[in-house]
Amino acid sequence: MIMGRRAQLRLLAVALLLLLPVLAACGTEPQSILDPKSNNAREIHNLGKIFYWSALAVFVLVEGALVYTIIRYRQSKNPEPFHIHGNTKVEIAWTIAPAILVAFLAIMTYSTQAKITTFPENPFVVRAIGHQWWWEFEYPELGISTAGDMYIPAGRDIKVELQSKDVVHSFWVPKLMGKTDTLPGLTNYLWFNAEEPGEYYGQCAEFCGEQHALMRFKVIARPQAEFDAWAAAMKEPPPAPPQSAGLCLGCHTFDATKPSTVGPNLRNFGSRAWIAAGALENTPEHLAAWLHNPEAVKPGNLMSTVVKPGVLTDAQIQELVTYLERLKVE
Ligand code: CUA
Repeated sequence: MIMGRRAQLRLLAVALLLLLPVLAACGTEPQSILDPKSNNAREIHNLGKIFYWSALAVFVLVEGALVYTIIRYRQSKNPEPFHIHGNTKVEIAWTIAPAILVAFLAIMTYSTQAKITTFPENPFVVRAIGHQWWWEFEYPELGISTAGDMYIPAGRDIKVELQSKDVVHSFWVPKLMGKTDTLPGLTNYLWFNAEEPGEYYGQCAEFCGEQHALMRFKVIARPQAEFDAWAAAMKEPPPAPPQSAGLCLGCHTFDATKPSTVGPNLRNFGSRAWIAAGALENTPEHLAAWLHNPEAVKPGNLMSTVVKPGVLTDAQIQELVTYLERLKVE
């Protein structure tokens, strides 16, 4: 089929229009690097834009030269091909121009890296510890510990100390900061300042075993006063646990002032959106299913080695669901 130039242009315009919603949607994803919400995520995003526009300019230039050459020297206009043995000026130009561009991009990269790895004075420290497959968050200055949701004061410089209990994980909250590995036996650091209160989705970004995909978490940024109120409420002793919680206490604690031992600290379990790091929405029905047979929900998880179907009676499960959902700290 031979198309006229008008028809070709129209086709191109339609194709670009169809692409627009796809590109526009990138920014609204809960885990998008294209919608930065912290100083350092914005630095990274700005660097990404420099790379994007540079790459686009190179693409247009190279493809433009190619298309021009194809049209200008097409067979019908040039039945007799001519030969050249090179053009020194052009060759020097296309060697030097990319070298300058690459040097420019390297300088921009190093300067961004220097900015985001220069730690501020007096940051608020949160320790994020990777476990197969969930995240623990400790607040050394407050003497409390939690899991699943990392609460932080918005508008404050946050320094995250990254550790791992078992294998290599990677801490990644796309809207707040680039990813950094958590390594057993070594502490890594990153920092950011979440400018606005809000909830930001995070995800382990290093393959760490069977349930790597279900190692999700949230960063919940609140105004300082609300964060302080949350921290004070977390320090309150939990309501008295029922008899059936004896089994849980082997691995978990309901007290935020005590560090987690094996499993996540459950002090504010009722306030969490998820069960088992994103495996299920936190509803009483899901929690009952989880307590009945965790292996069916998230194969390979550590709790399954203790809690197998039948270990907890239905009555015990109901008692535990009621208790755990009461453990709210807003
Ligand atoms: Cu932890 Cu992937």
